[in-house]
Amino acid sequence: MAEAADRTPPLVRTDRDGDIARITVANPPVNALSHAVRSGILAAVQAADADAGVAAIVLRCDGRTFVAGADITEFGRPAQEPILSTVLAAIDASSKPVVAAIHGTALGGGLELALACHWRVAVQSARVGLPEVKLGIIPGGGGTQRLPRAAGVAKALDMITSGEMIGADAALAAGIIDQVVAGDLDRAAVELARAKAAEGAMPRLRDRDERTAEARGQSGLFDAARAAMARRARGRTAPEYAIRAVQAAVELPFDEGIAYERALCDELKASAQSRAQRHIFFAERDAAKVPGVGRDTPVARIGQAAVIGAGTMGGGIAMCLASAGIPVTLIETTQPALDRGLATIRSNYEATARRGGMAAADVETRMGLIRPSLAMADLAGADLVIEAVFEDTAIKKAVFAEIDRHAKAGAVLATNTSTLDVNAIAAATGRPESVVGLHFFSPANVMKLLEIVRGARTDAGVLATSLALAKRIGKVPVVVGVCDGFVGNRMLRARGRQAERLVMEGALPQQVDAALYDFGFPMGPYAMGDLAGLDIGWRIRQEKGLKSAVADRLCALGRFGQKTGAGWFRYEAGSRTPIPDPAVEAIILEEAARAGIARREIANAEILDRLLLPMVNEGARILEEGMALRPGDIDIVWVYGYGWPIQEGGPMHWADARGLAAARDRMVELARQHGEDFVPAPLIERLAAEGKGFADLPQPA
Ligand code: COA
Repeated sequence: MAEAADRTPPLVRTDRDGDIARITVANPPVNALSHAVRSGILAAVQAADADAGVAAIVLRCDGRTFVAGADITEFGRPAQEPILSTVLAAIDASSKPVVAAIHGTALGGGLELALACHWRVAVQSARVGLPEVKLGIIPGGGGTQRLPRAAGVAKALDMITSGEMIGADAALAAGIIDQVVAGDLDRAAVELARAKAAEGAMPRLRDRDERTAEARGQSGLFDAARAAMARRARGRTAPEYAIRAVQAAVELPFDEGIAYERALCDELKASAQSRAQRHIFFAERDAAKVPGVGRDTPVARIGQAAVIGAGTMGGGIAMCLASAGIPVTLIETTQPALDRGLATIRSNYEATARRGGMAAADVETRMGLIRPSLAMADLAGADLVIEAVFEDTAIKKAVFAEIDRHAKAGAVLATNTSTLDVNAIAAATGRPESVVGLHFFSPANVMKLLEIVRGARTDAGVLATSLALAKRIGKVPVVVGVCDGFVGNRMLRARGRQAERLVMEGALPQQVDAALYDFGFPMGPYAMGDLAGLDIGWRIRQEKGLKSAVADRLCALGRFGQKTGAGWFRYEAGSRTPIPDPAVEAIILEEAARAGIARREIANAEILDRLLLPMVNEGARILEEGMALRPGDIDIVWVYGYGWPIQEGGPMHWADARGLAAARDRMVELARQHGEDFVPAPLIERLAAEGKGFADLPQPA
């Protein structure tokens, strides 16, 4: 054991360039500040400081990035000295200038480390940020105290409450770094260190007050940050705490600010919200790992794509591809449909440019990548074909037979179906191994989720290519199996059944929606129905001979939702705000009476349980059937595809956090009155009986 340990390269090492000590962190993949790294940096800084032959110190990293933050895997455990602030205090106190040399991403504790150094240089491609709020915490290593002293309060508030990164040039302009290096970073850092040692210059951010003084008495800055957060981070504690910590940087002496920041950070680290957000961080990364798809699985290069269908979905998908620089042929059957599709794409891009989301010149660049066509033969050059035509198996099969005739060998053939049988669609081709489902969520150019549907015959290389494509176009992929509605829509249906019953039993649409909104969803099922359009479900029900008492009557009145100005709610002209409608209430009361239901008052807690527990139950069945690989994959689907509040960690994490045994007991109770949606799945029974949760399930092999 001892011998093996000796051969392990040190995580932190020091070498010398003349009188400059170069301290290097080498902790792949992202140089996270684990306990060993913190100890190593502290020892190295103290040794260099004590060494009479050292004039100055450079702190740099091996590998693909500067330190990308605290080691998130350590968060659940008690903090162990030296904690980050102990290390940073030693750097701050060093009698010799310390220069941080930044490449890749200096994030979280990494940026805090750099801010504790006396000088910061970075390559132009470097990015810096304090993303802690995304993990439900705030910086705990002085970030909320040093960043406002470097960049001013407004900038610091923006960066810390959003968690977004900025590039090196912007960081230079903001005063966060001192120099952007065009050539050799290490050389530049050593030269700067040497020059500063000669000057005897040792600027410490802790001693700077002019940027924070500007904000003293300017409470408007903090009010504005709170107002911005009220919508963007509704229900999340960390952004509010971040604002308070920055306020402390303005109002308190440095050391008191540091202590205040640490207390807030420690409280958040132990919170349920942070546990949920950390779960999502790792679940997102796990979801990209698929058994049978390894590093050696070949990934096809997508140089050219084709999208069949220029409707809402097809157009949105074409935008995703063009925005990532992938040329795409957009194919329709008629010129008017093609023109309409292109016009919508252009107006969406222009709206984004107007809001500052992209450069105006990029509108033309992206439009230039989309080549409209009326001929299926034009997909012949595509490495990837995505079908987004009407949701009907017969139509999709016909389209795939046609795609099969024209597509080149080795092309990935994808269907954007949201419910249909991908195997049946694949069977319409002579190459089912090339067929995969790529289920985008509406609006496709905005929503981050991509369900990758693995058919019975889908080749591993096609999956690997789909996963790589998702990353390239900025989507979060989850691989799912073929079942009705896949993961997301299948669980949505379980929720929808109960939403409908609640309204018959005594709740009104606005009460059902409010319960979910208060839980953290951007909207409830009724507002969502009005947004999507009620006529689609009506048509499907008519085809299948199904009924939905209230919804059918609304549709018969031409109330199809937002597009007709009325649905479950009514809408003022030009507004998307749902307004409760007495006419709808009257219909609900009539239909409930007709069905012989004695309506009763229903508490919000019951509404939530009735809506969310059937989803957990359906999720458990999805796991039992192997349609999702892990509970975390299901959570990712719901957080990124349907707006499940990230601070609640997705449905499966939510059930675990509540205690799966307690959730099971509540389901048993509800099953007595409300039937099979609540009869716990065998997987839930088994885990609960063993005192376990979904998180205890083994990772798929
Ligand atoms: N602590 C522990 N592990 C971390 C980590 C951290 N701070 N940051 C990343 N990792 C791990 C990931 O889990 C992943 O592990 P895996 O390969 O076993 O799945 C691996 O490092 C690579 O990360 P990944 O995100 O897949 O790489 P990337 O190149 O796409 O992105 C970063 C790199 C640094 C931008 C991204 O990982 C990130 O944002 N990390 C979190 C940064 C952060 O929040 N820091 C503040 C912490 S307080």
